[in-house]
Amino acid sequence: MTLGQRFARLATDAVVRRPALWRLFRGPIRRQFDRLAPRWDSLRGSDSLAPLEAALDRVPLPPQRVLDVGTGTGIAARVVGARYPEADVVGVDVAERMLDEARRLTDSKRVTYRAADAERLPFDSASFDLVTLNNMIPFFDELARVTAPGGHVAIAYSRGPQTPIWVPLERVRGELERRGFLHVADFRAGPGVALLARRS
Ligand SMILES: C[S@@+](CC[C@H](N)C(=O)[O-])C[C@H]1O[C@@H](n2cnc3c(N)ncnc32)[C@H](O)[C@@H]1O
Repeated sequence: MTLGQRFARLATDAVVRRPALWRLFRGPIRRQFDRLAPRWDSLRGSDSLAPLEAALDRVPLPPQRVLDVGTGTGIAARVVGARYPEADVVGVDVAERMLDEARRLTDSKRVTYRAADAERLPFDSASFDLVTLNNMIPFFDELARVTAPGGHVAIAYSRGPQTPIWVPLERVRGELERRGFLHVADFRAGPGVALLARRS
């Protein structure tokens, strides 16, 4: 792993254990991804969305309101928008330059972007019936707050434990179950993994 990737892993480990530590990492992480934005899409493998897509295959009903947290250049938001033609999709990120790229790459008016921090999302409670995270640090309290009852959360890591931003799925599952989610299934696709859970 590069130094930047090691830093992202350190931040992820720390923030999942103690979310309050995010205030120390927020600035450096935002600057790191702002710097990476122009070449972010050239760094990804061609099958990097496969684990997330495997999880989405198990969502029983097409969602209407979707949130992609840590959307980066919006790849997952666009995939979700194409998969669910009736859905409004919003992607959020702290890195404005990532969002600039996301807007440049997105045609659909149903897929929009907003600068926001996953630690404190600017949305009402129960606003979304699907929330996706692809290679993103989960803030579990906010995930539980914004997901509507019966809605789903899909969390994917495209290179499994080799993903710099990585949380073991057992940990993800435990944190979600403590907040009223039911585990639906884990998925594997190449080196990547994903988890789907439903808010009870
Ligand atoms: C590893 S990138 C993944 C981007 C995108 N999901 C993808 O798969 O290409 C992580 C993204 O999450 C963003 N991010 C990290 N922490 C965040 C937070 N607390 N709130 C919003 N965005 C965050 C970063 O700025 C970065 O764009």
